[in-house]
Amino acid sequence: MRDEFLDPGPANDREEADEAGLRPRRLAEFIGQRELKEHLTIVLEAAKRRGQAADHLLLAGPPGLGKTSMAGIVAAEMGVHLHVTSGPALERAGDLAAILTKLEEGDVLFIDEIHRLSRAVEEILYPAMEDFQLDIVVGKGPAASSIRLTLPRFTLIGATTRTGMITGPLRDRFGLVARLDYYEDDELEAIVRRAAGILKVHIEADGAWEIARRSRGTPRIANRLLRRVRDYAEVRGDGTVSKDVARDGLKVFGVDERGLDKVDRAILNAICRQFHGGPVGLSTLAISVGEQPETVEDMYEPFLIQQGLLARTPRGRVAMPAAYAHLGMAPPAADRPPGLFD
Ligand SMILES: Nc1ncnc2c1ncn2[C@@H]1O[C@H](COP(=O)(O)OP(=O)(O)O)[C@@H](O)[C@H]1O
Ligand SMILES: [Mg+2]
Repeated sequence: MRDEFLDPGPANDREEADEAGLRPRRLAEFIGQRELKEHLTIVLEAAKRRGQAADHLLLAGPPGLGKTSMAGIVAAEMGVHLHVTSGPALERAGDLAAILTKLEEGDVLFIDEIHRLSRAVEEILYPAMEDFQLDIVVGKGPAASSIRLTLPRFTLIGATTRTGMITGPLRDRFGLVARLDYYEDDELEAIVRRAAGILKVHIEADGAWEIARRSRGTPRIANRLLRRVRDYAEVRGDGTVSKDVARDGLKVFGVDERGLDKVDRAILNAICRQFHGGPVGLSTLAISVGEQPETVEDMYEPFLIQQGLLARTPRGRVAMPAAYAHLGMAPPAADRPPGLFD
């Protein structure tokens, strides 16, 4: 069971087209992440003035915060081509070599999920990033020889949901490492309004706010919730997204007051009820909610931790007092402040 609001892959063709249409294309259109935008403005402007490719950039953060969008923006701002691939797609050294040899001067190469590159591919990447050199081995056995190609100067943009899984040597080769944080509610409101404008959805101010504050700090989720609420407004109302329509629509789709969806709640329920507050190991937890451990770790946990509902300890995941409160449960005795519940 995958949750449609968090799933990184677009649910269908229409959603895919919608998502592509909603992507900010230029830095000025990109809402929020002020610090990252400021750094990039300077780095890109300096590179342009020198007539050089911008420094390599590593973007880290949970899914749906704008990493892929930012790669497209860098290419657009620099006026160069964007080449897109991903860690798992680059199985062999030759796969990466094929892409590198297609690059033109200044181009941007975007490698999504760069923490999933194989060691062999990573080894090819180092000299390419550092010296713009590519060593290709031709032939096999004793007759094998290696040829060295000089590559055009390009900008590598890596995206990862797991900074901890990037090897030191790879990380060190990026000139700029940026962490994308969850968005503030007012930024998400601006994102919802922008998306509503593009999708031609009639939305009232407090309708936009209602969606924004329940979007788990994530633009992709804000856009998805907007689409679901739009559907609801068209079927059950006159198409206008008011506060009440947003609230009712979100309820129908299982998004609660805090923006948690059914998987989030299943995770909290499992820890609080089944495992008596934890600690519980990641894989046990994942099995009990029917998700992959990576999905729980990358998509669900970071927000629950940020919200103070869950904590990671060396012995496993534990529920925080706020989790019990959210589920309408009393916290276990040991966590009760003395006297309060006696
Ligand atoms: N800063 C932003 N401003 C407006 N929309 C955004 C922003 N960041 C992300 N989005 C929206 O969220 C969607 C997901 O963003 P994406 O770049 O694919 O995230 P990631 O690659 O980090 O998973 C995009 O299609 C875009 O519509
Ligand atoms: Mg992406």
